[in-house]
Amino acid sequence: MPLPRPPLHPSLPAPLGHLPAWSSEPLALLHTGAEAARTEGLDVFGLNLGLSAVVGFSPQWNRAVLTDLETFRSRGSLSSLVPYLNGGVIVTDAPEHALRRHALNPSFSRSALEGLTAAVRQKLPDFPAGRTDALAWADHAVRDLLNVAYFSGEFDAELLDRFLAPLRRPFPAPMRPHPRTLVAVRRELLRLGRLRANEPRPDLLSTLIRQPGWMEDTRVSLAAAHDTTTHALAYGVWHLAQAPQWHTPEQHGAVIKEVLRLYPPGWMGSRRLRRSLEWRGHTLPAGTLALYSTYLTHRDPGLWDGPDHFRPERWSHKPPAWAYLPYGGGERICLGMHLAGLLLTETLAALPLLRTLGGDATPAPGLTLGPAGPLWVARA
Ligand code: HEM
Repeated sequence: MPLPRPPLHPSLPAPLGHLPAWSSEPLALLHTGAEAARTEGLDVFGLNLGLSAVVGFSPQWNRAVLTDLETFRSRGSLSSLVPYLNGGVIVTDAPEHALRRHALNPSFSRSALEGLTAAVRQKLPDFPAGRTDALAWADHAVRDLLNVAYFSGEFDAELLDRFLAPLRRPFPAPMRPHPRTLVAVRRELLRLGRLRANEPRPDLLSTLIRQPGWMEDTRVSLAAAHDTTTHALAYGVWHLAQAPQWHTPEQHGAVIKEVLRLYPPGWMGSRRLRRSLEWRGHTLPAGTLALYSTYLTHRDPGLWDGPDHFRPERWSHKPPAWAYLPYGGGERICLGMHLAGLLLTETLAALPLLRTLGGDATPAPGLTLGPAGPLWVARA
């Protein structure tokens, strides 16, 4: 029996039948697919994206995808199609993946990052007086703070902006750094790496350069860090401006969790099936693109009360296992989750009281999920 799937585009060949909706309104397509799956008592549905794809959204599916690294491979997944992410640890598969992660993990551990807190605090951005777009502000703030955390602020700021800018273009614009920019980024990394080989600084690059493949991992992790953290910060600022009663350092933890539940920047994780797999009575053939939808899981009415509402108070209780995965899970869990947590917590703690002035907070999925924007706010 074929998998349930959303209706196909009437005038396209069937194997391409979901491509237009995938690029123009992917969240609506996901909701339609999940409804079709639920009608048949299933937790997966099919998509025809030129390549045969299966999308799952239950905790059981998430657990399988994120823990069975022999079956669910990263190479050949959607990340391999994005030049920014096609490299380093992101597309390294088991068994080499574990070695590469073990080498990188200490640089990004909670205890290693403690040494960065003082430097981050010193460079926290001021919030401007007057009407401000929280999305544009978050974009600059995160770029500058990443420069501090990785490079003690020594990376050429204009080059960093040029490198990261294409990531912010809306889907499906090509997200490809200009080849000349890439050459300049490599040259800059080499320059900063050499300086640290002689004289280490209290920054990430000083420890990263000790690993083989450090240039690639520095570059892809910067790309993985920027948009994700920017979008989470922009939504955090927006919700604090809307609901200032949550704007206390004690409550920011719950606010960040709730923002990452409602708008998981990593809205869709992708793998490729290395072998065929039996799932709930269906055979998923080898080579299938296997997707897990954090967005659908985080808004599943069977898992969450009022899933579409911003309710930080829900975090007084722990969610079911594998129902909340803003940073993925298992061995490939986000390398930068503690760094993101540090930047978000410190930045929110330094914000003045704000109020919203209008804008468009609708989630707009691209490479990562963020607000359509702008998000106009001002000091209260
Ligand atoms: C709020 C901010 C962030 C969110 C929501 C986020 C989300 C994620 C998710 C969902 C994954 C797993 C993808 C998958 O396996 O399917 C991931 C992996 C990854 N993230 Fe993040 N991320 C964030 C910030 C960062 C930062 C600051 C860095 C900087 C180091 C980073 C670097 C990476 C890397 C290198 C991986 C691949 C890990 C591997 O495959 O072993 N991320 N992230």
